[in-house]
Amino acid sequence: MNKQVKIISKEEVDIQHEYMSRVRVLNNQADRSWRAVVRTFGCQQNEADSEKIAGMAESMGYEIVDDEADADLIVVNTCAIREHAELKALSITGQFKHLKAANPELIIAICGCMVSQEHRLDDIKNRYPYVNFLFGTGELYRFPELLYKARVGNERFFVVEDTEGTLAEGLPIKRVSGFKAWLSIMYGCNNYCTYCVVPYVRGRERSRMREDVLAEAKQLIESGYKEITLLGQNVNSYGKDLGYDYDFADLLNDICAIDGDFIIRFMTSHPKDASHKLIDTMAANPKIARQFHLPLQSGSNGILKAMNRKYAREAYLELIDYMRKMIPDISITTDIIVGFPGETEADFSDTLDILSKVRYDNIYSFIYSPRRGTPAASMNTQIPKEIQSERFARLLELQHKISNEENQKLVSTTQRVLVEGISKNDPGMYTGRCESGRLVHFASDTDLTGKIVNIYIERAETFNVFGKVVERK
Ligand code: 5AD
Ligand code: SF4
Repeated sequence: MNKQVKIISKEEVDIQHEYMSRVRVLNNQADRSWRAVVRTFGCQQNEADSEKIAGMAESMGYEIVDDEADADLIVVNTCAIREHAELKALSITGQFKHLKAANPELIIAICGCMVSQEHRLDDIKNRYPYVNFLFGTGELYRFPELLYKARVGNERFFVVEDTEGTLAEGLPIKRVSGFKAWLSIMYGCNNYCTYCVVPYVRGRERSRMREDVLAEAKQLIESGYKEITLLGQNVNSYGKDLGYDYDFADLLNDICAIDGDFIIRFMTSHPKDASHKLIDTMAANPKIARQFHLPLQSGSNGILKAMNRKYAREAYLELIDYMRKMIPDISITTDIIVGFPGETEADFSDTLDILSKVRYDNIYSFIYSPRRGTPAASMNTQIPKEIQSERFARLLELQHKISNEENQKLVSTTQRVLVEGISKNDPGMYTGRCESGRLVHFASDTDLTGKIVNIYIERAETFNVFGKVVERK
């Protein structure tokens, strides 16, 4: 009852820095190195959180490694968005049992969205006795304190506080990439889509102060980062809770005003809050990637209502028209849920119809997964699995055709590409992403990783395009 967002004071963060020093002292006492693995499931927000966990672990004297077999500390950062994500996290945790048996000193911690649900917390408490401690999304900033306690004591503990989320500044971050960065601008969600567990596990919307966001962006750009993705569950609500007249479009403008050659992306936008002002801001700022991820979820007005999405297909399509008018080369992607309770064949056809009308470059599609405690999970119109799978296959078939056709349109154009590294499938090729987010493959004699280059597109497939470097920036 009466839960609130908790702003973590500088003093409280300093206490965590003090715990980081204490763990470092413990580590320095032993004449050996200490290794930590952070395993991440789920969305970009979780990846960003894991970079904080890794940053704190590194500050405590751990080397961040990839192989659990070598680790003294394993942190599993879990996701709860669909059952599949939870089962994967539980399964990997199960595999660590033998590591703990071989090395009783090994510390295993589980955190993130899954454990912020009471029934999953109980699951781990009871069925995974070798897990040392567990902390919810709101307790991430307390990781150093919890780890210290686990290092000096023998007790197991489970810390999920009864808040609507926390907001902490000043924690160290160890970024995975040296040229692409996540920048969280806000946390939590107020929307309560009826299928979604996020508002329950990540609390209410809370924005970081603009000074903090701008300082982080500036520091990233000055240290050579070429692409920054602004993260929030609903970035279009940025600033609404701050009490001054400053919104997401204003923030984008201020970030674009920072000197340097960089690309800004953002996700996720809720269609009910995506404003013309935001689209105008994108149109006016070449530093913002010509890409918009606008989750539709369903093309049927009845299902949108049952999902509590608060927009109708007509308003969604109007927004798309405005985007295309203002930014003709914009690439649009979306999220679709198939088989939501009560979805009829006609509802599903409405979704296919929007796919044909909008012609997304790419879609992220999911079979509806009932989440405990959400309104949709107790609707008595759940759709049988076979129907869900059959619709899912039809959705993908249509989208693959559209993606292929849209990719063909890139042939003979020149695209600005941020090079990500050597191709996973072909060591003779480099891979990058163009502004639309598409994967681009090309040959190069020199290592262009982390650089922005121009690629002339020669050939396209459904998921990839291929080209050659034409002029270096
Ligand atoms: N079942 C299936 N997909 C879901 N998503 C969110 N909750 C569920 C669920 N219960 C999808 C939505 C959202 C994306 C991140 O995950 O499409 O936009
Ligand atoms: Fe979930 Fe809806 Fe919030 Fe997105 S906007 S996190 S789908 S509740």
